[in-house]
Amino acid sequence: MESFFYQLFLVGIFLVTFPVPPSSSSSIPSKHFQFNVEWKKVTRLCHTKQLLTINGEYPGPTIIINEGDNVQVKVTNRVARNTTIHWHGIRQLRTGWADGPAYITQCPIGTGKTYTYNFTVINQRGTLLWHAHYSWQRASVYGAFIIYPRMPFPFSAPVQAHIPIIFGEWWNADVDAVENEMMLYGGGPNSSDAYTINGLPGPLYPCSIKDTLIQTVERGKTYLLRIINAALNDELFFAVANHTLTVVEIDAVYTKPFTTSAIMIAPGQTTNVLLTANQIPGDSTGMFVMAARPYLTSVFPFDNSTTIGFLKYKTTMEIERNKAPSPPYILPSNLPPMVDTAFATNFSNQLRSLASVDYPCNVPKEVEKRVITTIGLNLQDCPVNQTCKGYRNKRFYASMNNQSFIRPSRSVLESHYWKLKTGYASDFPEKPPHVFNYTGVDPVAENMNTEFSTRLLEVPYGTKLEIVLQDTNFLNPENHPIHVHGHNFFIVGRGFGNFDVDKDPAGYNLVDPPERNTVAVPVGGWAAIRITADNPGVWFIHCHLEEHTSWGLAMGFIVKKGPESSQCLLPPPSDLPPC
Ligand code: C2O
Ligand code: CU
Repeated sequence: MESFFYQLFLVGIFLVTFPVPPSSSSSIPSKHFQFNVEWKKVTRLCHTKQLLTINGEYPGPTIIINEGDNVQVKVTNRVARNTTIHWHGIRQLRTGWADGPAYITQCPIGTGKTYTYNFTVINQRGTLLWHAHYSWQRASVYGAFIIYPRMPFPFSAPVQAHIPIIFGEWWNADVDAVENEMMLYGGGPNSSDAYTINGLPGPLYPCSIKDTLIQTVERGKTYLLRIINAALNDELFFAVANHTLTVVEIDAVYTKPFTTSAIMIAPGQTTNVLLTANQIPGDSTGMFVMAARPYLTSVFPFDNSTTIGFLKYKTTMEIERNKAPSPPYILPSNLPPMVDTAFATNFSNQLRSLASVDYPCNVPKEVEKRVITTIGLNLQDCPVNQTCKGYRNKRFYASMNNQSFIRPSRSVLESHYWKLKTGYASDFPEKPPHVFNYTGVDPVAENMNTEFSTRLLEVPYGTKLEIVLQDTNFLNPENHPIHVHGHNFFIVGRGFGNFDVDKDPAGYNLVDPPERNTVAVPVGGWAAIRITADNPGVWFIHCHLEEHTSWGLAMGFIVKKGPESSQCLLPPPSDLPPC
């Protein structure tokens, strides 16, 4: 009996101490990485340019760690531009200083300066990504972040190998110039010149046959594809000719497995799928096309091209090895057309948390606060004596509840931590300022000017929070991938048209809703997400289409510290970059 209580006591200790992120004490394995931010001459599409890279690699180096590891990435800035790095989807429990978004949790790392991102990966496993979080630098500064699980995979298929599939965008121009021009005149940005898979555009682009991904597989074997969308501005469809994909994980959270002909993946999202090489190649090259192209919901000019690579079955004829086959290239018939909202909707509706004993779905069944915010574009009157190149000679902006987020000159996290009540306000509007038919008004005539502010939502530690993201049809309705830093959330409901606070909550999935860090809000619709705000600090919430973030489609939320010492943000590291 005594020992039973003693065991209970031990279990109690374990439960109490588990959520505390172990500081880099000796019992926790530490993985160290060196990231040098440097220029590298790279050629794609017959254009040679200086590309911003980590250690000269494009895409950047893959980080591979084990669940529970402490990670220390020493970032040294060797270019004449500011930078920061974000570990997208890593919860950063109590270590908000290592999150990365410029002017939210840190000031940028200046030229010649070094900052070590130090954090512990607790209770997360799977595929995520890291990327620069300063202006549009993530166009080339990105890579995979892979966390090996402590326990075996919850799916039974034996996995022969893990294959990273990282989508990106290539610009022939300098992306900083693209962003500057867009912000100077308020027009739409130039779009990219190619999509890439693992940095390779593939043979549908000029001069690119040699820059084609060829992935060898063995017939009869099953592979885990770790798919990452690191593109700047485009949601993508992805399919492999003649093969189905079985989704098993999204945003480093296991799902109930389901088999699909293709996937939709928004920027910032990751998707692990199983692919079994169970086909008979049609010819001696043993090749099957894999392809990605945008899911388009915008009327703005966009990159409507397609990137392809090849799955190559090992054959006895290995002569053509690692060389793209000659044209013509036939796109997979299972690749959805660019406007296929029906496919995107049906795909998203099939995503479910695993919700097992080992991997429970901890969705808040009740909430303490519900915030409803519009997300959408604005057409701003042109200030006198300025040139504006947006529609009707106005300027494009974007906003949440009609607030366009302005980054302050000191990081909000520092202002919050040091209790300096300047540079931001904790009064983000919890309802749209005007109630109207968000998805049904005249997209141009009813459009209103936005307000510029640095207003954040502030909640007590542990708040069970619901945020309803309501798309508007100002200018045009669009699918916005909204990303929340420092927390995962549960997508309890989605729909088209206007959210109805009296009716829609009744249809929420509170059993096994998908858990993610980035939600693709339906075009002309809404999504309701639930968060347990248990990570003290300041967390950015924004559209992961970089052009929309530049235009202000962002906010933040502050989670206050809790009563326990384990519910407080850790003190700032001594090498935190000054402003
Ligand atoms: Cu992937 Cu705030 O970013
Ligand atoms: Cu957006």
